[in-house]
Amino acid sequence: MKNQSMAPPTTHQELLAFVKETAAICQPDQIHWCDGSEAEYQALCQALVDKGTFIKLNPEKRPGSYACFSDPSDVARVEDRTYICSLRKEDAGPTNNWMAPKEMKATLRPLMTGSMKGRTMYVIPFCMGPIGSPLAKMGVELTDSEYVVINMKIMTRMGSPVLAALGADGDFVKCIHTVGAPLAPGQADVRWPCNPTVKYIVHYPEERAIVSYGSGYGGNALLGKKCFALRIASSLAREEGWLAEHMLILGAESPAGEKTYIAAAFPSACGKTNFAMLIPPKAFEGWKITTVGDDIAWVKPGADGRLYAINPEAGYFGVAPGTNYQSNPNAMYTIAKNTIFTNVAITPDLDVWWEGLTKEAPAGLTAWTGQPYDPTSGKPAAHANARFTTPASQCPSIDPDWEKPEGVPISAFIFGGRRSTTVPLVYQAVNWSYGVYLAATMGSEMTAAAFGEVGKVRRDPFAMLPFCGYHMADYFNHWLQFGRTLSNPPRIFGVNWFRKNADGKFSWPGFGENMRVLKWVIERVRGRVSAVESPIGWMPRFRDLDWAGSDFSRADFDQIMTVDREAWKKELMGHEELFEQMFDKLPKEFFYMRELLLSSLWRSPERWNLAAETA
Ligand code: GTP
Ligand code: SPV
Ligand code: MN
Repeated sequence: MKNQSMAPPTTHQELLAFVKETAAICQPDQIHWCDGSEAEYQALCQALVDKGTFIKLNPEKRPGSYACFSDPSDVARVEDRTYICSLRKEDAGPTNNWMAPKEMKATLRPLMTGSMKGRTMYVIPFCMGPIGSPLAKMGVELTDSEYVVINMKIMTRMGSPVLAALGADGDFVKCIHTVGAPLAPGQADVRWPCNPTVKYIVHYPEERAIVSYGSGYGGNALLGKKCFALRIASSLAREEGWLAEHMLILGAESPAGEKTYIAAAFPSACGKTNFAMLIPPKAFEGWKITTVGDDIAWVKPGADGRLYAINPEAGYFGVAPGTNYQSNPNAMYTIAKNTIFTNVAITPDLDVWWEGLTKEAPAGLTAWTGQPYDPTSGKPAAHANARFTTPASQCPSIDPDWEKPEGVPISAFIFGGRRSTTVPLVYQAVNWSYGVYLAATMGSEMTAAAFGEVGKVRRDPFAMLPFCGYHMADYFNHWLQFGRTLSNPPRIFGVNWFRKNADGKFSWPGFGENMRVLKWVIERVRGRVSAVESPIGWMPRFRDLDWAGSDFSRADFDQIMTVDREAWKKELMGHEELFEQMFDKLPKEFFYMRELLLSSLWRSPERWNLAAETA
């Protein structure tokens, strides 16, 4: 890939200046303007194979696919190194790290100076959303990582068509990324260049600009994803009157051919990809779930007063561990070819493996550390946050309208965290405001993808805690205000697939079985199924769900639907902890809703067991 003094294929003055200024600071050896072609993609994959970064997988088992191992210090997003550098501190809010833009720029300047020495700076014009869609937005990422170019090719629409769409003066978000590992003349590169000690993921919302230093992994480095499509976009969405959300989008088609689209927010590694690609149980013959997106939704009101959503991405950057032909067959078929695997284990015949793919680990694995795997070590062979990067177009359940420029109409929002206690399988907010409260106070037990103590509950409002580009309480107000403008707002639901029984096992079988809950949600939206009132909202009785082909017992159902007064009193105290953090800007409604919830909990009995109560 030698493209010394490649002529810039654009006349866009602002873009030319951006490239020139960044090159002057970062001092790359050369600049490559990405055209997004297949030839360019193949050449870069080969370059990474030659460098030892990529391992070409067995072309018979995994055609067009590669695996790579990251540096052990660079395996996930770094929330503690992520900054929202708004002009005013109060615009970033208490849940974001903040530094004044001037101060941050002064901090970054010496780090960025010469940071790309010995490397190529790639110019990646990319579009979030289908090119030409009224909901799409463009960006340009400058990066010194071939891995980033390859992943951006899968995850976004990128290259010449985007430059053409930008024209001479189109708007774009400025994204600069460096692994922060310059090479001295003659210095050999390492397998996964990064800066093991210094990392910064920085957003300037007013300038619509992003600077990422020191990491090559996922959301830290593929700047179209979390940095742009969530943090910068959420801030744009607030100004422009739309929503940028950490949500999957799925379509559900009934046997009668009726289609309902739903968007659902779950925190990282809590089942968005699984839910988006759900395969209904056998007894639900004629039902079909289609996938629009698995991670991010951009949602805008249409002329008819309904909400329309697009998936701004073109690929899936999904969690590998736990993915198998039972838990997510559609994902397994999607990743059969043309996929990049990061931090999985590798079999002796050059295929991939991870915990949960098969019961037993095959012999002779290479672990994600690059070392021969020792099954007696007690350590996993694949990293818990190992991921695949794979084209959405390869997904067997892809929705026929997934690239429709105007998006798909959304009928319901679902919010769900990972909670082993307290929160029932499903409940419905009585109205939009209460739904916003439900989403704002959502909690989840921490996983490897989040920063913190695994297993501890943290409040993760709207599954957006690490991704909201402005003050979280302003975000709540935006959601409330947004709802007031809708004539027929989507219904809002809470779900919890993760409640555990006394033995510490998941009580709910989950995965395809979630279809039973989804069907109730759809029927509620369409006003065709009943529910009963509980202190926390509307809930289905046992007989309100479709149990065709299931042996899930009524007693089990009672257990996962129970609303326990003492547990919910504690839960509401948890809400207060969140509120205290952002007291000054919190919607007044929230205080009243909390009081109402608390008072309704005093209705007898002490535990609501709805099936029994209304039998
Ligand atoms: P990000 O890509 O990090 O935003 O997360 P995601 O929400 O897309 O995560 P993903 O779908 O990859 O979540 C994977 C984890 O959720 C695995 O540990 C799965 O086993 C688990 N999971 C998904 N669906 C279910 C379910 O219905 N029940 C249970 N118990 N676990 C589930
Ligand atoms: C998440 O952590 O929510 C992800 C993965 O979707 S990453 O893109 O790395 O943020
Ligand atoms: Mn995500």
